[in-house]
Amino acid sequence: MFQSVSAAPPDPILGLTEAYRLDPNPQKVNLSVGQYKNAAGETPALNCVKQAEQRLLQEETSKGYLPIEGLAQYNQNVQALLLGNDRQGLEPGRLATIQTPGGTGALRVTGDFVRQALPGKRIWLSEPTWPNHPSIFAAAEIEMETYPYFDAESGSVDFDSMTRALEAIPAGEIVLFHACCHNPTGADLATDQWRCLADLLKDKDLLPLVDFAYHGFGSGLDDDAVGARVLCRELDEVLICSSFSKNFGLYRERTGALTVLGKSPAETAAVLSRIKRAVRSNYSNPPSHGGAVVAMILEDIQLRGMWEKELAEMRDRIKKLRTLLAETMNRLQNKHDFGFINQQRGMFSFSGLAPDQVDRLREEHSIYIVRNGRINVAGLKEANVEPVCQAIASVL
Ligand code: LMR
Repeated sequence: MFQSVSAAPPDPILGLTEAYRLDPNPQKVNLSVGQYKNAAGETPALNCVKQAEQRLLQEETSKGYLPIEGLAQYNQNVQALLLGNDRQGLEPGRLATIQTPGGTGALRVTGDFVRQALPGKRIWLSEPTWPNHPSIFAAAEIEMETYPYFDAESGSVDFDSMTRALEAIPAGEIVLFHACCHNPTGADLATDQWRCLADLLKDKDLLPLVDFAYHGFGSGLDDDAVGARVLCRELDEVLICSSFSKNFGLYRERTGALTVLGKSPAETAAVLSRIKRAVRSNYSNPPSHGGAVVAMILEDIQLRGMWEKELAEMRDRIKKLRTLLAETMNRLQNKHDFGFINQQRGMFSFSGLAPDQVDRLREEHSIYIVRNGRINVAGLKEANVEPVCQAIASVL
């Protein structure tokens, strides 16, 4: 049987880390996968996480199944983190959150829900977007389209082209937005643009699906949630997929959530029941550990304070690395102005490097970045900024 199976191509992001591991060059640098590294080049577990884990070890008394929707305490804390303690004044029954295995799990459950409960609805993705978005929705057998998002010239959102394209989408379709720290461009929408989008989505009867994977990596917990909060306040129906891989450093614990806002409690309950069916036939119920850690940190004043401080340290370090990267690139060459790196937000810089330049970086310098030119700034160390910039300058 297996003789007829042809090999699949490597994953455009995780496949690079596989190749990086096999690279014998001691100077190799992995700037592909979106994973934060500290000054020592490590991705350490946060101190608040280690403390919560110690407590869990003492307090956890059962390894019984969680409900299909996960830990109730986690789901409530995630909602409060997303929307504020007041939930933007929304009637409580209109909101439902489930715990999922990572943000990817939330997106896949969304895809399965759409296929089963909203058959024929297409999902519109920004061009460019995270390469796993099309893979996830293709696996869920959803049809996809794209809308323009990025203006390479200015390094910012091409809002005119974006809204023109969204206005032409047939009513009743689904549009995916990145809540903040757009992956891969780092170009985000301003608050007034989110308001404008909310009006457009309302007028055109489009359902927003918000991918929220970098909460706290842009400007701060409240600022980064502005878009999601505007949409929830202004619209009847919203879907939000959260990931806590980056902001809690819980990558391997696969900790995420799917939040539904419905027009009425009855509508939300029906949607939740469909989502639970999608979960049951996929992974049955979520793994507990990451959710238990996040729930404890969000609820405990001391752990929460520690987390917010550690999150701010990661955010500030990324900003400093951005400045250093931009300054070093501009000092080493004068073909391009790399000042745009400072305008982008979050982990990634959309460098503008072409695929053949990216290939040369890998082949000649053992520097691994995603082929669309996305550099994980958060993967740099101060000490390797100079050699990385020299290598980039040499392929320009
Ligand atoms: C990324 O974009 O690198 C991260 O979201 C990790 C992943 O799963 O691709």
